[in-house]
Amino acid sequence: MSRLAIFGGTPERSRPFPSWPVFDDSEEKALLEVLRSGNWWRYSHGQAVEATAPEAGQPSSKVAEFQAAFAPFQGARYGIACANGSAALEVALKALGVGPGDEVVVPPYTFIATATAPLAVNAVPIFADIDYDTFNLAPERVEEAITPRTKAIIPVHFAGQAADMEAFLDIAQRHNLVVLEDAAHAHGAAWKGRGLGSIGQAGTFSFQASKNLTAGEGGLIITNHRDLAEICESYIWGGRKIGRPWYEHHRLGWNYRMTEFQGAILSQQLKRLAGQNARREENASYLDAQLSKLPGIRPLRVQPFATGHSHHLYIFRFDEAEFGVPRADFLAALQAEGIPCLAGYAHPLYKNPMFLQQDFYPRGCPVTCGHYGRALDYTCFEALCPNAERACREAVWLEHRLLLAGREDMDDIVRAVEKIHESRVNFNSPVRGERE
Ligand SMILES: Cc1ncc(COP(=O)(O)O)c(C=O)c1O
Repeated sequence: MSRLAIFGGTPERSRPFPSWPVFDDSEEKALLEVLRSGNWWRYSHGQAVEATAPEAGQPSSKVAEFQAAFAPFQGARYGIACANGSAALEVALKALGVGPGDEVVVPPYTFIATATAPLAVNAVPIFADIDYDTFNLAPERVEEAITPRTKAIIPVHFAGQAADMEAFLDIAQRHNLVVLEDAAHAHGAAWKGRGLGSIGQAGTFSFQASKNLTAGEGGLIITNHRDLAEICESYIWGGRKIGRPWYEHHRLGWNYRMTEFQGAILSQQLKRLAGQNARREENASYLDAQLSKLPGIRPLRVQPFATGHSHHLYIFRFDEAEFGVPRADFLAALQAEGIPCLAGYAHPLYKNPMFLQQDFYPRGCPVTCGHYGRALDYTCFEALCPNAERACREAVWLEHRLLLAGREDMDDIVRAVEKIHESRVNFNSPVRGERE
């Protein structure tokens, strides 16, 4: 048995995994083109709405070009770029008519923006538990969370795997709700062959630095409804209206615009995305097959309807008792073996101080909820979301950049996990590592 690196042995791996972001001369050229043009912002208002290249004679816009490429790539007619994925969610909710007092059902195992976007439009986020096998929102739990005040559902395609859209569309139809897909992790991913984000009324993306398609920051809304696209565009452009004077404002909008520099980078990044996702899928399937042979390691299940998976994260559930090592020790040992890894969210969203203290509405205006008809206490969700609680205790995340490496690099991951398992007894030794 070789000594674990955490106990002073030689790491399984010393070579780095591919770094992220990936870029080359094409990004450099595109950025210089914007720089030298002096067109640093997208001033030709209105170009966003049609997902087509700017018409001849119009000033060319890198943001418009990116929208025109990304929306159809994802299966939608219209793409509206904005500053980030959080803004995209907020704008889409507003454009969908979600407002004060409306309830929006969201998962608790996601980034905070999925739940703060409803708050930003004075609506109430209501948490429904996730499915333990996929970490995606569980349709049965969503159904239970619906009240007469429910207006929308936000399924997150977590880690890049399609949520159960058939079930959510059905629930939405029966209860007259809108479905806004949070596709922040799901660039290039699909449900039954349809691009994620294009299935509900609207879908939103993030291009923040960690994402599979990135410009450091950035966001985008896709939809097949022109009226909705125009309203989103208006909110992002300070409430302006296409075809109306520049200083005429029709709704409470904001400046959530994307810059030309971001648009230029994103168009170049998009050219690599399909190839990178194919590599991620291949490596993720290999890891699924190899890691699931080990006791206590359970990769998330990939559903048959998830016909394209972007693997923004590679996740497995870690059963401490079965593997024989506490998760925190396992993560430290895996890191020491040269495999970067993370524990993910420390707690479900409703356990954030913001929710516990309800620090989001003016004092004296508590959040009420249709279920209880009285002030909502977010601590109630702990009992309602056992799978999210468990996911926070058991998940192990690997970043998508690891999946851009080769088969032999995946073997390093598997060997490192096996090595820790073989040495599990050492974690219980009074002097750690002594028994090796
Ligand atoms: C699921 C999810 N939704 C929304 C967002 C918000 O995107 P941004 O960071 O671009 O505001 C993120 C970002 O990490 C996310 O993971």
